[in-house]
Amino acid sequence: MDSPHRFIRALRRQPVDTTPVWIMRQAGRYLPEYRATRAEAGDFLTLCKTPELACEVTMQPLRRFELDAAILFSDILTIPDAMGLGLSLVEKQGPRFDRPVRDLSAIQALGVPDPEDDLGYVMDAVRLIRKTLDGRTPLIGFAGSPWTLACYMVEGQGSRDFARIKTLAYDRPDAMAHLLDILVESITLYLNAQIAAGAQAVQIFDTWGGSLSYDAYRRWSLEPMQRIVAGLDRGPEDAPVILFTKGGAPWLEQIADAGADALGLDWCCDPADARRRVGHRVALQGNLDPGILRADNHVIEREVARTLDAFGPQPGHVFNLGHGITPDIRPDAVAKLVNAVHGHPFESA
Ligand code: CP3
Repeated sequence: MDSPHRFIRALRRQPVDTTPVWIMRQAGRYLPEYRATRAEAGDFLTLCKTPELACEVTMQPLRRFELDAAILFSDILTIPDAMGLGLSLVEKQGPRFDRPVRDLSAIQALGVPDPEDDLGYVMDAVRLIRKTLDGRTPLIGFAGSPWTLACYMVEGQGSRDFARIKTLAYDRPDAMAHLLDILVESITLYLNAQIAAGAQAVQIFDTWGGSLSYDAYRRWSLEPMQRIVAGLDRGPEDAPVILFTKGGAPWLEQIADAGADALGLDWCCDPADARRRVGHRVALQGNLDPGILRADNHVIEREVARTLDAFGPQPGHVFNLGHGITPDIRPDAVAKLVNAVHGHPFESA
C-alpha cells in the first residue's frame, strides 16, 4: 500500500522527501482560536461531543502550521465516560470521575461500550474531519492504553503515587486482570471503529506505563497493549499503529516487538541509543522536550537540528515533542519548530 503522505510513509519506514512532523496536543489551549471555540461550546466535554466543533478545533493548528498529520480532537477518557463513570473536567484540576471503580464488584458491573452507539459522536467526528481534510493531510485516531485508563478509573482522578491502583494490582491481581480485559476489548473495538470511520493511523497513549516497576510494566501495560495491536483490523488503507509509553525507555526492545509500526519516545530517551536498541524494525517518533518551546527562537532551531541529527538518516522518523504541548507556549514557537524540521538538510539511508 503506497501512501502519498510523508507521515504515513515514515511510519512504514519508506522514503520521504523531508521529515514529517506533528505535535501531541496540537489542538489546545495555547491557540487563542481553540480557547474561543471552547468558550463557544461552554466546556471541554461538549466540545468533544459536538462533531462540528471537534472538527473545527482539529483543523485549527493545520491552518497555522505546515503539519504533516491531523489528530482527532477528543480525549482518552471517552471510554470510561461511556462506561458511566461520570467524567468531569475541572479547570486547573484535570479530569475527575464521580463513580470511580474501586473493587471487584464495580469491575464486574462494567460493560464494553459499543463504539457506534455509545461513542457515535467520536466516529461522526472522524468521518467529518476526514471529509473536511479531503485527502490533504492524514488523520490520526487514538485511544489511551488499558493501564492508563485503569489509572484514571481506579484513582478517580490524576495521581502522583498511583496508590489505589497499585494496591489493587498487588492485592487483587485477578480483579486487575479482569479490568484490563474489559479495557482491551473496549479499546480494540473503539480503535477498529475509528479506522473504519476513516482514521489513517492510530496512536495508543500509555501516559502512565512508566509508573510501573520493570516486571509489572510488562504484565499490566505492555501485554494488554500487545493484545490490542493483535486485534486491530487496519482497514483498506492498512493504518499504521504507534505505541507511546511515557517513561518507556527501559522497555524499548520489548515495545518494538509488540506488533506496532512505530514507537513514540519521550525526551528522556537518547534517540541514537533508541535506534541502536530497536534497529529498523519500527519507526521512531519524538522527542523534543516540550520545555524547549519556551526558549528563544534560535534555541528552538538549534535543538530541533540536534534532535534530527540524533535520530540519524531517514527513513523511519516522525518528528514530535516528547509529550504534549502546554498551554503557555507561543504559537510562533510552534511555527519555528515546524519550519525548522522541514528545512533541515536531510539524508536518506
Ligand atoms: O493531541 C491532540 O491535539 C488531540 C487531543 C487530545 C486531548 N487529550 C485533548 C485535551 C489527546 C490526544 C488527549 C489525550 C489525553 N487525555 C491523554 C494522553 C496524552 C498525554 O498527554 O499523555 C491524557 C492523560 C488525557 C487525560 C486528560 N484530558 C487530562 C490529564 C486533561 C487535563 C489536561 C490539562 O492540561 O488540564 C484532559 C483535558 C484535555 N484533553 C484538554 C485537551 C485540549 C484540555 C481541556 C481544556 O481545558 O480545554
